[in-house]
Amino acid sequence: MPGADTRTSLHYAPFPVTLVSGAGARLTDLDGHQYLNLQGDYTAGLYGHTNPAIAAALRGAIDRGVRLGGPHPDLHEYAALLCERFPSLDRVRFTNSGTESNIMALSLARAATGRTKVLVFDGGYHGGVIDFSTDDRRLNLPFEWVIGSYNDGDDVQRVFETHGTELAAVLVEPAQAAGGALAGTRDFLNELREGCDRHGVVLIFDEVVTSRLAPGGLQSTLGITADLTTLGKYLGGGASFGAFGGRAELMDLFDPRREDGLHHAGTNNNNVLSMAAGLTGLRDVFSADVCAELNERGERLRGRLNDVARSRGSAAQVTGVGSVMNIHFQRGPISRRADLAVTPRAARTLFHLEMLLHGFYLASRGMIALSLEVSDEDGEEFVDAFTSFLERYDVVLA
Ligand SMILES: Cc1ncc(COP(=O)(O)O)c(C=O)c1O
Repeated sequence: MPGADTRTSLHYAPFPVTLVSGAGARLTDLDGHQYLNLQGDYTAGLYGHTNPAIAAALRGAIDRGVRLGGPHPDLHEYAALLCERFPSLDRVRFTNSGTESNIMALSLARAATGRTKVLVFDGGYHGGVIDFSTDDRRLNLPFEWVIGSYNDGDDVQRVFETHGTELAAVLVEPAQAAGGALAGTRDFLNELREGCDRHGVVLIFDEVVTSRLAPGGLQSTLGITADLTTLGKYLGGGASFGAFGGRAELMDLFDPRREDGLHHAGTNNNNVLSMAAGLTGLRDVFSADVCAELNERGERLRGRLNDVARSRGSAAQVTGVGSVMNIHFQRGPISRRADLAVTPRAARTLFHLEMLLHGFYLASRGMIALSLEVSDEDGEEFVDAFTSFLERYDVVLA
């Protein structure tokens, strides 16, 4: 593997620690060091490392036989559950990743509208080939992208006036995840909804991350319904996963009984391991109440960290929604990627490595995604480590 790596977001200098096992919320590396896992596999690890219900579901699926090569009960039950849980889904289809779900949703929007352009936002991340969270966009798919400014209603107006009738879709995260855990404002997302309605554009909410932030997905708390919604990560219960769905009249274009049906294939779309683990996780573990509690725990932790930074007057703050957050070493309001340009890269690196040394595993960019296994007490330990970090390094952060 080039650079001994196959997932760039996991690489950091001089080299990432090699992990050999996980139990509950704790990780153990090859040298025997233990870490509290706050990185939560970039939100996919919502159930922790050893959830017994999910382990039993996976064992059950293996015992019933893998690679059945046909529809099976878990597939149908999971599709029904997703549609029940996420009100924006009349119909759903499965894929293998969030990236693939976004590609399918965009391709569906282009086929349904006969248009080609897609509005996305600076700071948005929708997969390795639909990535606007950095300046390097060389790997992006050659769609006709129009790149708007996140949380910027005036820019939305301008884009719709210029490109409205040529847009097939708007693809947006209701809160940008990789872009720095930045919440989308209700006004901004409403403007998108209204612009799409005015111009016949398909509104796609990428809820690959944000679907875990409220029982019906973040759009349900915002009261804004997308035409298509994309899902992934934790909804596979630990196995590879993706799904997309939405309004019946769009999704029914995939009905294989139709003469003019769109062909959506994928060898692993119905694989028994993802279906069993995903279904069990959402049905038996991540109930609406558990979802609400996890996100309250996240709000409490974020509040505590921000209180510490504020009371010390440190150049540090934590953005985010519920159980997903990001630490930024800067002052002042942050509502879009451009605002993050002033965070010194060195501060981020220093914090990440210091936290590793103190037994806290988080994403090198400062992202935290709580799993169900991370308790308030674990959170307090991290608050102490964050406080000590600021006490020691405030002078160089300022
Ligand atoms: C918002 C969002 N969409 C899509 C993706 C891509 O999902 P996957 O890595 O499963 O392809 C990610 C992954 O980080 C994401 O954060």
